[in-house]
Amino acid sequence: MSAERNALTSSPFSPDSPRRLLITGGAGFIGSNLVYHWLGAYPQDFVLVLDALTYAGNRQTLQPLESNPNFRFVQGDICDRALVDRLLREENITAVAHLAAESHVDRSILGPGAFVQTNVVGTFTLLEAFRQYWLEAEKPESFRFLHVSTDEVYGSLAPTDPAFTETTPYAPNSPYSASKAGSDHLARAYFHTYGLPTLITNCSNNYGPFHFPEKLIPLMCINILLGKKLPVYGDGQNVRDWLYVEDHCRGLAQVLRQGAPGETYNIGGNNEVKNIDLVTLLCEILEDLAPSLPVHPATDLITFVPDRPGHDRRYAIDAGKIRRELGWSPQVTVAEGLRKTAQWYLDHQSWWRPLLSPEYQEYYNKLYKLS
Ligand code: NAD
Ligand code: DAU
Repeated sequence: MSAERNALTSSPFSPDSPRRLLITGGAGFIGSNLVYHWLGAYPQDFVLVLDALTYAGNRQTLQPLESNPNFRFVQGDICDRALVDRLLREENITAVAHLAAESHVDRSILGPGAFVQTNVVGTFTLLEAFRQYWLEAEKPESFRFLHVSTDEVYGSLAPTDPAFTETTPYAPNSPYSASKAGSDHLARAYFHTYGLPTLITNCSNNYGPFHFPEKLIPLMCINILLGKKLPVYGDGQNVRDWLYVEDHCRGLAQVLRQGAPGETYNIGGNNEVKNIDLVTLLCEILEDLAPSLPVHPATDLITFVPDRPGHDRRYAIDAGKIRRELGWSPQVTVAEGLRKTAQWYLDHQSWWRPLLSPEYQEYYNKLYKLS
């Protein structure tokens, strides 16, 4: 790594549109929201999505973009080095937003292998491919690699602990968070060792449209609408810091466009809520939005089930750095965001009903053992 190339990495990222962006995992929850956000905000830019379409990826979500000449979808694995090499060159990519991952903690407990493969080996494969491509580039100063990660790498907080900052030591507790921590370290090391212009974001719990049914908020919305039990782990007192997905996508775009290479930015909603309070609130919202629910009051469906092994008690993000340095702050309150999300699940049953497949039911029954 020459000092000259290293110095170039502090130049601003592609101030002149059009930019050419690769979004990995763009058929998943946050990835698809980011694709819509990016093409909405910067319609002259080009977006290539690379997504393996695992159980969590959904081509249908991106269907309205199929006729957009500035959009291309490729089904493929981020671990496929030859494919990644070819796509970077074929589309003259200048920036990567890396979101492809195995993302669900419960699945990582049932089967951690896929998490190591995609999250660690897959991120390594992308970084290596991007590094080689960047080394050959004519204008390397305009390149960026944004690694999208989670607050779970910081471990669990006690009730009165201060929120996670960018300097909180890593202490991942689940196979999922351990695999994300590994990938964060790789992204950081590629900046430190090779000068590759990587950036890392660590974000709190997202919610909103296109969220796969296995996660707490969509699961509860769907089960309330179907009159099924609402499984709450342990005593329901675990706390998560909720962020509406559009706010997260705005933050990611800001970091990619204006963040300093080599830096980490925490992103969070400043919205700490206990799980039991969140589930109760969703019951109340859906009672209001859909008065003819199968079970009324919907709170009768709340069922405490055995706790998730190693369940982190509390997450909370201090988003002071991104606010001070890049001017980002969340705009959607949790009351507003939950209402919008509940309405979305009510209105988009044709999106989520096909996802309740026999394979999903098998996973669900194995996890919850509920009748
Ligand atoms: P998701 O599970 O909804 O989507 C993941 C996407 O990655 C899917 O479309 C899937 O098909 C794709 N994918 C999986 N393995 C792949 C592979 N080997 N090659 C190519 N594509 C593959 O996940 P999400 O909730 O949208 O999370 C996206 C990213 O954001 C993840 O890296 C996650 O760790 C991070 N994150 C999520 C949250 C959250 O609350 N959901 C919060 C912070 C950070
Ligand atoms: O903090 C960011 C992380 O948020 C992301 O990195 C992960 O990809 C994302 O899945 C999410 O992880 P969580 O484990 O916090 O999300 P989940 O929706 O699975 O659970 C939220 C809380 O609700 C958690 O305390 C566990 C609890 N829960 C979850 C499910 C699925 C229940 O009580 N019952 C359930 O059925």
